[in-house]
Amino acid sequence: MEIKNANKCYLTDTQGNTYIDTTMGSGAQIIGHNNPLIREVAEQIKKGTIYTIPNHHTRKVNSYLKEYINPDFDEKYIFCNSGTEANMRAIRLARANTGRNLIGRFHGGWHGGLDGFIEEHPNNRGVPPETNNLFRILPYNDEQCFDMITADMAAVIIETAQGSNPRSDVKKFLEKLREHCTRTGVLLVFDEVMTGFRLSARGGAEIFDVRPDIVTYGKVLGGGFPIGAVGAKPEIIKTRGVFYGGTFSANPLSMYAASLILETIIDKKHIQYDKLTHAGETFRSELNKFFVEQDKKMTVIGCGPLSRIVFTDKFIRNRKDRDNFEPENAQEAFSIKLKKLGVFVNGNGLYHFSMSHTPEIVEELINIIKLGCDS
Ligand SMILES: Cc1ncc(COP(=O)(O)O)c(C=O)c1O
Repeated sequence: MEIKNANKCYLTDTQGNTYIDTTMGSGAQIIGHNNPLIREVAEQIKKGTIYTIPNHHTRKVNSYLKEYINPDFDEKYIFCNSGTEANMRAIRLARANTGRNLIGRFHGGWHGGLDGFIEEHPNNRGVPPETNNLFRILPYNDEQCFDMITADMAAVIIETAQGSNPRSDVKKFLEKLREHCTRTGVLLVFDEVMTGFRLSARGGAEIFDVRPDIVTYGKVLGGGFPIGAVGAKPEIIKTRGVFYGGTFSANPLSMYAASLILETIIDKKHIQYDKLTHAGETFRSELNKFFVEQDKKMTVIGCGPLSRIVFTDKFIRNRKDRDNFEPENAQEAFSIKLKKLGVFVNGNGLYHFSMSHTPEIVEELINIIKLGCDS
């Protein structure tokens, strides 16, 4: 499948087939494809796409992040071009700040394709075991993880809602993790690449009311352009002698797009989180009702506008449970069915609603999924 055109929440392929898009650029497009902000960014092209020298948009983005998103963090963010790069910089900062190398990360988490983050991935060759040894994989949403988070670690990195297992019942777990990290002197990194500016303006940190020491962003912040960002408490980000540079880092296109996205998050003109959350909740409640009534071994789980269908009717606590209960290839087989019915689901199985998914389109999607269950 090759896409030729994307408009609002629709994708059109080179064969002329149109699909309801449920991935929205892997969660990067929160307003919709071809939205008014994207068209405004085109104006920046005439003024140059790369300066390497700092640009005025970056100053604006830093000040919006400081004033509206993370007032307790330093006003200077580190900008790069992807979520993976942001996480690479975040763990480097944590290691430099603490003088320790070991990083804790959770089973079922995804932090990008960096060496050390992909040990459990099927395509994990080419990573030296010495690199993997610098990471400790922790059981997610499981109290046993606390015995494994020890004072010899630089940081623990966690998504506030895991893509493999998005859920809204982890407030207590995140609170305990925060307390444990503070007690042991291990820095807590929230990877909000997927959840930042998506679950709410201030991301999972706001929804669960837990503050990290370091945060990473990407996806939505770039407004459809490549971006990654790292923010931290002032005493952490001021750590000296850490390298962060890159040719396209903080390029004027991405930074202009980021300033426009933040402006509309602040003025609520193009993004309203209550509508996004309502779309996600309607999707989950209507489908779960149908699955129970029809005795389907399926459940929709999620958090705010983010959902995933899991192919079991059993309660799952984490990715490990999902792997145990879900028949192999169930996700993929269902996505193929939906594609035939005019719905595109990404390989990662996540449904990201955007502002262009109107209540009518969400209803249409629900009906198509019901049809897909019966076909
Ligand atoms: C939570 C999380 N962290 C990091 C990444 C990596 O971001 P990128 O693909 O922009 O490198 C992703 C991408 O899916 C993600 O969901």
